[in-house]
Amino acid sequence: MKIDYTTFVRSGPGKFIAGKTGLPQPTDLPRYTDRPQPILGPVLVLGTSGGTEKIASQLVDWDGDVRRHGDELDKIGTIVVVLDEIENPTDIGPIIRQLPAAFKKMKTGGRVVTLSRSVTSEDPAINAARSGVEGFIRTLAKEARKGTTANGILIDDDIEVTASSVIGALRFFLSAKSAFITGQTLRVSADGGGLPTLWEQPLACKTILVTGAARGIGAAIAATLTRDGAKVLILDVPGSGSALADLANEIGAIPVQMDITTENAGERIVDELDKRNLVLDGIVHNAGITRDKYFVNMSDDRWDVVVDVNIAAQLRINDILLESDKIGDDFRLVSLASTSGVAGNAGQANYAYSKSAVMGMVAALGPILAERGGTANAVAPGFIETEMTGKIPPVQREIFRRSNSLKQGGLPLDVAETVSFLCGLPAGGYVGQTLRVCGQNLVGR
Ligand code: NAI
Repeated sequence: MKIDYTTFVRSGPGKFIAGKTGLPQPTDLPRYTDRPQPILGPVLVLGTSGGTEKIASQLVDWDGDVRRHGDELDKIGTIVVVLDEIENPTDIGPIIRQLPAAFKKMKTGGRVVTLSRSVTSEDPAINAARSGVEGFIRTLAKEARKGTTANGILIDDDIEVTASSVIGALRFFLSAKSAFITGQTLRVSADGGGLPTLWEQPLACKTILVTGAARGIGAAIAATLTRDGAKVLILDVPGSGSALADLANEIGAIPVQMDITTENAGERIVDELDKRNLVLDGIVHNAGITRDKYFVNMSDDRWDVVVDVNIAAQLRINDILLESDKIGDDFRLVSLASTSGVAGNAGQANYAYSKSAVMGMVAALGPILAERGGTANAVAPGFIETEMTGKIPPVQREIFRRSNSLKQGGLPLDVAETVSFLCGLPAGGYVGQTLRVCGQNLVGR
């Protein structure tokens, strides 16, 4: 009988050995189907600013059982700390006095979210106070247990605490849709595109194209965008034929057989949209490949093909789409980066180059698209359980899988939920960022 790691550490002897030796003991992370409610209650809201009151009342509107003191509670589901007015590192202490005791009472899959100002002040004391919040939230994420996550929302000075992009980020981080995101920050630098009429169908009436959608993360993205109300075009290489057709039938998507590296891929996408009388509200550049080798053994072919699929093809397609009349005003572009692009990874010089390049692409495209009401952002997955990572040798795979604060690999669904969030209306305020979906992988920030 084959026993996997998780089954072993949950058995009597496994638990004993893990406890004695400090082996990782992962918790089953509740996902959206396990907890569709936006908030896990009760909610403790800490803060002294006017913004704190506004956030507390927003949480009440979402049916949160909101408290301002945690002493009387046995268990706490969510803690929101509003730090939007701190001006000196000494200001935070009194606000978080209750936090250690409350943090001990977190339920499985609990949520901690801080709201603070972006680190953009020219005043050293103010900037120090703001910058400190990032180290603090990343540490809470590392100390959290039982699937609790801790993330921060950084709000630019000219943006209200109640701006739609702040509220959208808050709702996402508090929900079970962000189960595999922890120790991350998201910066809100514009008001955003508004809030969805129906939170359950945030992408209603949107048309979105997903590349590399026949399997793995791309297929999960297509299914999740469909669940969230979008009409989805799924694109993959002609060789993926039956998988693409099967998925199209299953979720009611439009299949497009195409290799994104063909010279006229952009024009062909425009033709396809024209033929169907469609305008795109978003594109998800998910198609990606690896051709791993240590750099000293890297052939030109391996380098070139990875760069072409993972970044150059995207740039060519974007140029054609942006010049066409086939994209909507609040267009959302989301591209798949990787933690290998954030931190580098031995054996993946070509891949890390291409994924870091994706982050550079969205950083430049973000402001360009913002001028017409759109956004460009990237998602950087860490270790996700897919065919791609299934090919890593077992011992190495086990090490990669556990090397994060949640001590497990993520699911394609976790990446898909994040992509869907970035395609939504409130994402209008996130300009050119890369959000990691990695369980706070030990590599990089
Ligand atoms: P996968 O290999 O399972 O699926 C990739 C899909 O892209 C396949 O269906 C493939 O046919 C398609 N594709 C490849 N080249 C194409 C081309 N030239 N034109 C059109 N379609 C093409 O990969 P997986 O694991 O689902 O990854 C999806 C994305 O997420 C990739 O960009 C990958 O780099 C990224 N990623 C994955 C991680 C993981 O742990 N699986 C971690 C970090 C990033």
